[in-house]
Amino acid sequence: MASDQSAKVLDSGFTAKLLHSTAFPQISKIAFLYFIHLLFMNENLDPTGKTLSAAEQEIERVLRPSEFLEFAGQEDIIENLKIFVKAARQRNESLDHVLLHGPPGLGKTTLAHVIAHELEVSIRVTSGPVLDKPGDLAGLLTNLDEHDVLFIDEIHRLSPVIEEYLYSAMEDFRIDIMIETGPNARTVQIKLNPFTLIGATTRSGLLTAPLRSRFGINSRLSYYPAAVLEKIIHRSAGILHVPMEQEAAAEIAKRSRGTPRIANLLLRRIRDFAQIKGDGTIDLKISRYALSAMNVDTCGLDEMDNKILATIIDKFKGGPVGLTTIATAVSEDAGTIEEVYEPFLIQEGFLTRTPRGREATERAYKHLGRVNPGGQGNLF
Ligand SMILES: Nc1ncnc2c1ncn2[C@@H]1O[C@H](COP(=O)(O)OP(=O)(O)O)[C@@H](O)[C@H]1O
Ligand SMILES: [Mg+2]
Repeated sequence: MASDQSAKVLDSGFTAKLLHSTAFPQISKIAFLYFIHLLFMNENLDPTGKTLSAAEQEIERVLRPSEFLEFAGQEDIIENLKIFVKAARQRNESLDHVLLHGPPGLGKTTLAHVIAHELEVSIRVTSGPVLDKPGDLAGLLTNLDEHDVLFIDEIHRLSPVIEEYLYSAMEDFRIDIMIETGPNARTVQIKLNPFTLIGATTRSGLLTAPLRSRFGINSRLSYYPAAVLEKIIHRSAGILHVPMEQEAAAEIAKRSRGTPRIANLLLRRIRDFAQIKGDGTIDLKISRYALSAMNVDTCGLDEMDNKILATIIDKFKGGPVGLTTIATAVSEDAGTIEEVYEPFLIQEGFLTRTPRGREATERAYKHLGRVNPGGQGNLF
């Protein structure tokens, strides 16, 4: 069964021929390429949330669970965190520093807020790229009350200088600040209140070993199974007061790439379709109509997922092929493929990892409408 996305991938040969024909003037080529680029972009499937408008960010905030009880899935992580939080509170200590890693949209920011809420402390939020002056970090740290949480998003993007300052802050709750320069330069030591640093990263592979070793709690969030996403979609529909049928939630869950942020984004867009094209209720028919109108893949794969699979199948005979070779062929960073794309493709059975490299599965061939020369399955 070929999806809408893979139809586009299949189409790329045709696109290339058209572009190389001399009948196509340069300026139209650029316009055409831009058009193709727009076609490929699908903001409904952006798990990072970077394309969200202010109003959509507000909805996201409303949909965000605020306590352990409301946080669906990731049971192992939640069970452990509950114990660590309870124990720290009983001892009247700050919770150990927590590192949350995993692909975008799986709930790292949400979980950081949930932890602070459960600890009944305040949370201050910043991010790796924003924190570039030691003074800014010192300002944040000295303003923390006892046991407060400091959340640093994208912590793999901290500058080495800031990271250096964090070490002593995390370990001994103190920072040494250099004041003045030249012959008058001296350092003063500032004592901090015991606090909890929660770091979030999509690329734990980029974290330096000394920083990583300073986190006592290290949790990796994984992609959500469709059944859990279904629960999340129901909860969100309830908060947004949209009537929704069970099968519709199941269909949206299946096509959300295992990612709550995508599930919520799709729900909001489908709500618009239901309001304008239907009677306001989200049922299976309107969901399918809306999902195909928005070019959402039948299995929830995004453009890069399909590109990776198509590359392995078309250029490397289905594999096995090494990660760096795939990365070069699809022009994406090998670490990102390994930490963001591959886990979902493996979980859903599109890709396998063998000692000799990555291999596309029968399911991948079927999804892209290709025939597997080595496979037993008949496509039609
Ligand atoms: N376990 C969950 N249960 C319910 N909703 C969730 C869960 N995880 C994430 N979400 C929803 O997905 C959205 C994105 O989550 P977020 O924490 O911002 O992801 P990340 O920081 O990992 O990119 C949030 O607005 C939240 O509503
Ligand atoms: Mg986040």
